[in-house]
Amino acid sequence: MKRYFLLAITAICLISCSRSISIENFEDGLDKCSIEGESFFSLIETSNGNHFLKGSDDDQLSGSITTAEFDISKDYINMLVGGNKPSGWGRAMNSVQLIVDGESVCTVNSISDNPDSLEWVTMDVRNFKGKKGTIKIESAPAQTFGNYRIPRGFISVDQIEQSNKRLSHYYSVYETIVKADAKYLLIPASTKGANSRLSVMVDGVNILGQEQSCSPAISDIDYYIPIDVSKYKGQKIVVKLTGIKDNYTVFNAIKTSDETGNNYQERYRPVVHFSPSFGWTNDPNGMVYVNGEWHLSLQYNPYSTAHSNMHWGLSVSKDLIHWNDQPFVIAPDELGSIFSGSAVVDHNNSAGFGENAVIAIYTNSGSGQVQSIAYSNDGGYNFTKYDNNPVLVDKSQRDFRDPKVSWIGDKWVMALAVGQVIRFYGSKDLKEWELLSEFGEGIGSHNGTWECPDLIKFDYEGREKWVLFVSINPGGPNGGSITQYFIGQFDGKEFVADKLPYPLWVDSGVDNYAGVTYADAPDGRTVFQGWMSNWVYTGSTPTISFRNAMTLPRDLALKSNGKHLILASVPSPEVYAARCEEYSYDNNTSVDEYIIPSILENNEGAYEIDFTVVPDSKGEMSIELYNTQGERVTFNFDLSSNKLVLDRSQSGDVDFHKSFSNSVTVELIPRSEYRFQLFVDKFSTELFINDGDMAFTNCVFPSETYNSFKISSNDKFDVEDVKIYQLK
Ligand code: FRU
Repeated sequence: MKRYFLLAITAICLISCSRSISIENFEDGLDKCSIEGESFFSLIETSNGNHFLKGSDDDQLSGSITTAEFDISKDYINMLVGGNKPSGWGRAMNSVQLIVDGESVCTVNSISDNPDSLEWVTMDVRNFKGKKGTIKIESAPAQTFGNYRIPRGFISVDQIEQSNKRLSHYYSVYETIVKADAKYLLIPASTKGANSRLSVMVDGVNILGQEQSCSPAISDIDYYIPIDVSKYKGQKIVVKLTGIKDNYTVFNAIKTSDETGNNYQERYRPVVHFSPSFGWTNDPNGMVYVNGEWHLSLQYNPYSTAHSNMHWGLSVSKDLIHWNDQPFVIAPDELGSIFSGSAVVDHNNSAGFGENAVIAIYTNSGSGQVQSIAYSNDGGYNFTKYDNNPVLVDKSQRDFRDPKVSWIGDKWVMALAVGQVIRFYGSKDLKEWELLSEFGEGIGSHNGTWECPDLIKFDYEGREKWVLFVSINPGGPNGGSITQYFIGQFDGKEFVADKLPYPLWVDSGVDNYAGVTYADAPDGRTVFQGWMSNWVYTGSTPTISFRNAMTLPRDLALKSNGKHLILASVPSPEVYAARCEEYSYDNNTSVDEYIIPSILENNEGAYEIDFTVVPDSKGEMSIELYNTQGERVTFNFDLSSNKLVLDRSQSGDVDFHKSFSNSVTVELIPRSEYRFQLFVDKFSTELFINDGDMAFTNCVFPSETYNSFKISSNDKFDVEDVKIYQLK
């Protein structure tokens, strides 16, 4: 009897403890909720007559719906959540949040793999029991980035209820504790991983500064996110990841190690080009020659191989070819991500941060875009952000970025991309800026947003000439991103362009973008590097633990093409120090085919082929690199119409993006002979023609190194001065 009585009490207790309390099930409309913003949610009736809340597909509409207040009396809040989960910046734009004391304390984003189904999601609210809360369902406006609109997706929600029972395997915030007993904390990740945000807590402080987006592995592990925790040796680290299910690979697989867990020598790792040891890069930033070293900062994501969490990374080189990666130098803050910009050496302490301080001038991109500065008193290795950032704001402008600063005459001059013009600002101290002028309306290509300017002084046969670089995205003649330039005069205030047949391109290929020049380069040289990719397909190129590289360094000058001045890029002399073995070939006269079946005996994927072709007449000619897998990249010349067409359609892996196989067509300057320098490094080809007539940079992803080379023509030609160098 007593036993039955006890059992009955236990049963009653279990039933009442596990009984859930509804917070909102959307069966009585939205009367009890408060609504902000436009009508961006609707109630959808299901086949059994119930209703759920569905967000709008139209990501111009945004706002929030908040439930009536309730007492948090149970351990968990379960709810059904659906919607889609866009990638990159679009993630986290749709959320369900628990609001306690006016603060969002727990967030769930759309998690479903199938936009039409809703899945149980559980918030662990044990820390908030006894308090009052509301549930807020929010869809933020889609973000725009230049001409791109980042799809936001939508969220659907139903049956929000409190319970002592966890109904899902989903963790809105998954926490695990790791001991810092090795150099790196390793988070298993994948390009197709979860949409997650990472915090690494030591003594209650997030050592990453703020939450960083990342893609923890759901099934296969592509790479590990290596976080250096050597400073915290022996301490307890709490790793927090949002949006994780307990059947994901990452669950229980976070570990520590003295190795990064990644294969540095992965298939496409360049040999003589800068590429980040781990993570994502786009534009080169803060390029400056200081104390005998080339400092290359970069748009850098240390936590995944996608464009997000933008930091300034840093790599340093003594010879412009071999680079030593340093810890990142500028991290995102309350003003936003750290976008592109430049660095100068303040020789005369104009800013008051110290003589020869290296000063970085960059864009903070957050709710708007503003310019900020940071200084280094140790030759550009460690930077402190200026207390009174930002230093330049114009709330009326959405695209307001990429400051390139140099000392001109008696002041600092900043070239800044603003929508589709370049503005010039002047300053005596890098802190107070005055608008000098604006350039760009009605001239050059306006097919995309203007980005990453550079204003460079040249001496051309004793005359001062100025060149203005402007990168545009999209709108390149062969698709996507490309850099144009203007030649003219700058009087310290205004840039006036010479009348030339614009647009003119710094590089005619499709994989050289956002390039600018080093400040303080020695011997009055103008040394350039660009980002060797294209915004069209850069997010899906087939590298693994890193994504993207910079071009070879190039020395720039002005030269005449016979009709007018052009900008000539040639490989910087430092590049030749990478030549380690040299092979010369006999000249061939009057042939219609010239083949080198084996470029190098032990070809590690980095080489230079130099050769001169003298065509008999203006026929068709093609230059081809190929491998034993039948993969080839072909440069087709039509010398009668002066066209060069690059064919990458059979170059190897081309399926990662539908546009990658498109041919690339450019104009050629007609000459009676053509001197070629072709640099190949794992996934890049850089073709230089006739000492700066043209630079032509294009990526290719062969499954095996191209080790054969062929020139062929429907006519006769001579081949002279053929040399092959292995590069290391
Ligand atoms: C150019 C660019 C810049 C911007 C940066 C963001 O590629 O779009 O305009 O500052 O990339 O990463």
